Amino acid sequence: MTVLANDTFLRALRREPTSHVPVWLMRQAGRYLPEYAKLRARAGSFMALAKNPELAAEIALQPLARFALDAAILFSDILTIPDAMGLGLSFTEGEGPRFARTTVDERTIAALSAPDLEELRYVFDAVRTTKHALAGRVPLIGFAGSPFTLACYMVEGGASADFANVRTMAFARPDLLDRIVRINAVAVADYLAEQARAGADVLMLFDTWAGMLSPAAYRRFSLAPIGSVLERLPRDVRTIVFAKGVAASLPALVTCGASCIGVDWTVDLGDARRQYGDRVAFQGNLDPLALLANPESIRRAVADMIAAAGEQPGYVFNVGHGLVPSTPPDHVAALVDAVHGARSSRVEATCSERSGTAATVDGRG
Ligand code: CP3
Repeated sequence: MTVLANDTFLRALRREPTSHVPVWLMRQAGRYLPEYAKLRARAGSFMALAKNPELAAEIALQPLARFALDAAILFSDILTIPDAMGLGLSFTEGEGPRFARTTVDERTIAALSAPDLEELRYVFDAVRTTKHALAGRVPLIGFAGSPFTLACYMVEGGASADFANVRTMAFARPDLLDRIVRINAVAVADYLAEQARAGADVLMLFDTWAGMLSPAAYRRFSLAPIGSVLERLPRDVRTIVFAKGVAASLPALVTCGASCIGVDWTVDLGDARRQYGDRVAFQGNLDPLALLANPESIRRAVADMIAAAGEQPGYVFNVGHGLVPSTPPDHVAALVDAVHGARSSRVEATCSERSGTAATVDGRG
């Protein structure tokens, strides 16, 4: 039984009162930290780091050594699944991910199947090693891409400004896109369940490209498969769905079955919390570019965001998309301190009896 020294993040996901607003940041491990750049240069490639459980654990813990974050996230990538499906992933410096093979036609899509989890054993080993290295300091987040966001990369063969091929497929051959996201949903559910078995406390889905679709297409190709992933996960594990670009579909998104919805900065956090805060927790949603401004502006932005979030339990501070590589680490420190400094005195009374009690992972449901 794992005992967590700081379970504030899990409490917020359960919509219980907390002694401070918990905070972690999407892409908190990685490219903006000089200590990451050093390891990355030594290992030669991103995948060499991700496939080495000891190095992956070391990188996941790097931001925690600098900042008082309330959660750690597994160091890996969403594209491990299509790689294990045989599409041949590589990351080229400055260009992002590339697949050697794409799933664009009838033949390749007919041949597609969920990968053997054995191919992804390095990810589960990284979860176990990271969980061990954390020694119960904070919860560990496991993650995967959403079925649709993975389909974007699989059809396109890499990153794209407009994902024109997948958007065309949604009209020309919706049956083919249905098949890809159906297979991805099975793969993602099995993959996340295995991460939970390996020790992940929370499971998160990244739906970065949700905003590429019309509301109706979003429900069909993204939200429905996300629902089927969530249905297949163990009941006692808390879940987060991050979706970018779908503010207009928030009423549908909050019904997907996740414990928490991660939103980008185009969502009015106050409105979202007032309308849906009694049903789901929210995570977000500061524009990550705010971190390029001076620390005083960052503190103001944090105060405004926490005021907008309101006092109802069930809020996790985060950025509305990943930190950008040019983020100064000092600014991240200013942000984390500002979040922890806010509101803590007001709810302290509510939580004082609980704060000394160590929580067990078994009690997380
Ligand atoms: O700190 C963390 O959040 C944990 C690690 C993590 C990475 N990728 C490491 C990574 C997580 C959670 C991801 C998720 C991810 N990967 C997403 C969803 C979130 C988002 O940012 O939208 C997406 C779309 C990807 C796909 C991906 N991986 C791209 C487009 C790229 C290249 C550009 C980039 O973001 O750096 C990657 C590579 C990648 N994944 C790096 C890291 C640290 C950089 C690789 C390097 O060091 O060269």
